[in-house]
Amino acid sequence: MSTRKSSQKLRLGVNIDHVATIRNARGIRHPDPVRAAGLAVRAGADGITAHLREDRRHISDEDIATLSDVLTVPLNLEMAATDEMLEIALRHRPHAVCIVPEKRQELTTEGGLDAAGQHNRLKHYVDELVRAGSRVSLFIDPDKSQIDAAMTLGAPVVELHTGAYCELSGKPQEEELGRIQSAAKYGASLGLEVHAGHGLSYDTVKPIAVIPELHELNIGHFLIGEAIFHGLEASIKQMRRLMDEARA
Ligand code: PXP
Repeated sequence: MSTRKSSQKLRLGVNIDHVATIRNARGIRHPDPVRAAGLAVRAGADGITAHLREDRRHISDEDIATLSDVLTVPLNLEMAATDEMLEIALRHRPHAVCIVPEKRQELTTEGGLDAAGQHNRLKHYVDELVRAGSRVSLFIDPDKSQIDAAMTLGAPVVELHTGAYCELSGKPQEEELGRIQSAAKYGASLGLEVHAGHGLSYDTVKPIAVIPELHELNIGHFLIGEAIFHGLEASIKQMRRLMDEARA
């Protein structure tokens, strides 16, 4: 675990996708992810994250339009690098866009974007989104070559995939944490803003939150699940408390 201290506040972006997953299970309007976003802000979320997937399995186009209109905190739109998503992002010009890989059959975003291998395909999307004024981040594995690729692509932010760290235990988990720490340090040394997210829970958040180079964590599924037992606001406040304790 890192012992270096960071003075900056670690932002919490609350991902509301899975409120929409529950809504869509019935094809009706309840529970409304936009209402959940309002509660998340009240509970201390610094931003709202929503992934508009190609198959629209959770967040809808209408959700993105409404969030763009009503949110009082920054919207972070997660999207695949496709022409359809680019057109939607350019229409709404969210504060931030996080480009993620997307496979049709996956249950969730399984791994980071291959920024290194897909430079030519991604460049156009990064350029257009930067030009539109959105803060562009690339969701990548904690890997030096991917960070170098993000730099070459001109993305100002990288989000490090914490999914593998969250699923592992024991020594392999410690090693994965070490990869995330090194990647955060390396990214920051190049002048990138470094975020992290995926799979984080009360049990896994602190060793990530303490990494001094991180500016933002994006957390969703665990919080929406925990909300069933303790309510959304209480769950977000508890996550915020753990992040603050890690940074204290
Ligand atoms: N960050 C990114 C880029 C993601 O794609 C996701 C999942 O949509 C998250 C963070 C949040 O992951 P989780 O829902 O597992 O907390």
